[in-house]
Amino acid sequence: MMNEKYAPLFKPFSFKNGVELKNRIVMAPMTNFSSNPDGTVTDEEIRYYERRSGGVGMVITACTNVTANGKGFPGEFAGDTDEMIPSLRRLAEAIKAKGSKAILQIFHGGREVPPELVPNGDVVSASDIPSAEGKPVPRLLTTSEVESIIRDFGEATRRAIEAGYDGVEIHGANGYLIQQFFSPHANRREDEWGGSLEKRMAFPLAVVDSVKKAVAEHADDSFIVGYRFSPEEPETPGITMADTLCLVDALSEKELDYLHVSLMDFWSEPRRGVDDTRPRIEIIQERTGDRVPVIGVGSIYTAEDALKAVQTGVPLIALGRELIIDPDWVQKIEQGKETEIVTKIDKAKQKELVVPDPLWNAIINSPGWFPGVE
Ligand SMILES: Cc1cc2nc3c(=O)[nH]c(=O)nc-3n(C[C@H](O)[C@H](O)[C@H](O)COP(=O)(O)O)c2cc1C
Repeated sequence: MMNEKYAPLFKPFSFKNGVELKNRIVMAPMTNFSSNPDGTVTDEEIRYYERRSGGVGMVITACTNVTANGKGFPGEFAGDTDEMIPSLRRLAEAIKAKGSKAILQIFHGGREVPPELVPNGDVVSASDIPSAEGKPVPRLLTTSEVESIIRDFGEATRRAIEAGYDGVEIHGANGYLIQQFFSPHANRREDEWGGSLEKRMAFPLAVVDSVKKAVAEHADDSFIVGYRFSPEEPETPGITMADTLCLVDALSEKELDYLHVSLMDFWSEPRRGVDDTRPRIEIIQERTGDRVPVIGVGSIYTAEDALKAVQTGVPLIALGRELIIDPDWVQKIEQGKETEIVTKIDKAKQKELVVPDPLWNAIINSPGWFPGVE
């Protein structure tokens, strides 16, 4: 039997559109490098998701590219053509059959794509500024290309609807194309898509409108639309907390179903831009108020960690690495076995954990990324 103190994690959650999640725990979007070269999902990948679906209220998938030149990772599954709909559907059905809502994360890698993964090695971005020394110098997108990518986010949303997803998450985080337009580091344009803070918000907001339009045309109100962002960039110039609070205000006007604050540490504090030393997530939660629900994420491993996180008032908590380390995390708490939760990856248990080889190798060969791999 569940320890009563964890009941707040299992209180059902209702979105504004009435859709209900059975609990407050979400699987964070995680790329697994395991799809086929043609962009279709693999059996291994389906089994990996099945193993982690059912306990959590909602699964957000790995990112899927909305255009061919947006592919950011080897073994990423594609959402850029109608031929991919059956593949997208296989994944949605696998997640939903276990009893979790299925959310497709839609994405363009922009200047972060490896040139060998995109047609003609043509790496594109808001401007021709590389993300770091030695990284590819991207080609500045023309205005008609910008408009075309905005439409492509809408098209990927239509495919998600046709494939049976419960919603999409717009990937505006982690330094990829949408964030590149918002970033004063990546975006040095002087047209309608860059310059002032207002103009740097134009692309992210246009993507939201395009996605919402696809939903209005092809789905009903029950289709969920979320938006993920990273609150700050380390570079100067770079996105500050002050910039982000403006974006949060603008996004809050868009009738989104949730905002997802991408952080490696739920409790991390602002770098600059606000005169406030509370954790970023609390500042953002206060700013959104009851306009739009927030998902918090980052280094939540134990039941206690998650409980402490929901006690801030943030309604939904996402788990990434921990659900790879222990796919039974939710069930263990439900059964009163929270002390049996594993919080370090057991290198001998790849098979039991049902992790595809490419993801497993990435984890094992990246010291410091996952607890248990030094
Ligand atoms: C293997 C792996 C792949 C990831 N891929 C994505 C991704 O496709 N999209 C995304 O928005 N974040 C991605 N992330 C970031 C996670 O969603 C999450 O924000 C981060 O890992 C911090 O949460 P955690 O401490 O619970 O793992 C990835 C993280 C990991 C560990």
